[in-house]
Amino acid sequence: MADPVESVSQELGPAGQVAKAGEFQPLQLGPLAVWPPVVLAPMAGVTNLAFRSLCREQGAGLFVSEMITARGFLNGNRLTNLLASSDPSEKPRSVQVYSSDPIDLSEMVRALVDQGVDHIDLNLGCPVPKVTRTGGGSAIPLKPRLVARLVRAMTSVAGAVPVTIKMRKGISADLITFEDAARAAEEEGVAAIALHGRTAEELYSGQADWNSIARLKQTVAVPVLGNGDIWECWDALRMMRETGCDAVVVGRGCLGRPWLFRELAQVFDGREPDPPPNMGQVALVMRDHAARLTDLFGASTGLRHMRKWSTWYTKGFHGSAAIRGRLHLIESLAELDSLLSELDPDEPFPRSALRTSRAKRGGRQKVRLPEGYLDDLQDDTPPKGPHSPAEIAAHERALEGG
Ligand SMILES: Cc1cc2nc3c(=O)[nH]c(=O)nc-3n(C[C@H](O)[C@H](O)[C@H](O)COP(=O)(O)O)c2cc1C
Repeated sequence: MADPVESVSQELGPAGQVAKAGEFQPLQLGPLAVWPPVVLAPMAGVTNLAFRSLCREQGAGLFVSEMITARGFLNGNRLTNLLASSDPSEKPRSVQVYSSDPIDLSEMVRALVDQGVDHIDLNLGCPVPKVTRTGGGSAIPLKPRLVARLVRAMTSVAGAVPVTIKMRKGISADLITFEDAARAAEEEGVAAIALHGRTAEELYSGQADWNSIARLKQTVAVPVLGNGDIWECWDALRMMRETGCDAVVVGRGCLGRPWLFRELAQVFDGREPDPPPNMGQVALVMRDHAARLTDLFGASTGLRHMRKWSTWYTKGFHGSAAIRGRLHLIESLAELDSLLSELDPDEPFPRSALRTSRAKRGGRQKVRLPEGYLDDLQDDTPPKGPHSPAEIAAHERALEGG
């Protein structure tokens, strides 16, 4: 085989070749075997129980919660608990946590293990200035010994429950952090490492660098989960083939397209994927999603959540332009039904909407780090986290993912 780092092309093929029998293995996370090797990316404001259950029913794999902050969770914050909630049918149950405090992390992992959680992921990729400015989020992997300390705080109390981390490539092209951080985490017993092939400076812009995923695969022995720009099922197969990664993590590609998980299950099982749904079929999924959101959050908040989903689901459908504004004002499921009935159910799925980001515009940022943060990269002192209730609330609002 050619050097995988050299050969990652990311060329867009049309449809690809479905998986051959035995070509890929289930993702092994400690005692957990995940087939197909597909993971729903943790996404704040997105991967709550409503969306996870919808995706799971379409396909199979591992469906990670949105990021749950340890402080909010340990303080018994009502919203945090709701975001962390699950139901007995959710098996395996996977939760992403965030904290830069080892004591909080240990406490949270203990509580989650007691609740029967099957997988815990630590978010080390958050690029939000409010977080990196204090040395948290994607600033943490700059300090491998701090990574080790945080991971140890988790693995030492997790028992058989697999702990993983999710990172970005680094802060910027000049500050690439993933390899040293990955080695440190591996030594402390992580079950796998997920890598988003962008730096914090790049946010969500440009194309994810799959070479970094191939490089991580050569750096650690634990499974590597590749993340970045899986828009269609074919991208998942291509990423696995080109980088040698053990599983793919699907983020923006499934926003308003939960059936992507069905297509993924089909191609990993060696079958051609179903054609994309037409407007009528999408409308049924929207209605189902809205009902799940109102079940979870109550009518008012659930319908407010549904606004962004309506935009994502109808993206590119010409006929939906006329009702899009009104979709944002719905106050009941009956109103949603009535609006959806105005659409032409036979309008085919717009190909143009397949490879476009539905959330997070392009654009880069200058990453803020604490004063003098780069002076001692061997330091393992945890950054000061928020403490007062007001600080915690502001921090929670600022956090929006990796
Ligand atoms: C709306 C949104 C929220 C996100 N929230 C989180 C999060 O809570 N935790 C995290 O690790 N990453 C978060 N991310 C990053 C994704 O998990 C993923 O790494 C990123 O979108 C790249 O994958 P993609 O190219 O498939 O979208 C978020 C991304 C989006 C679009």
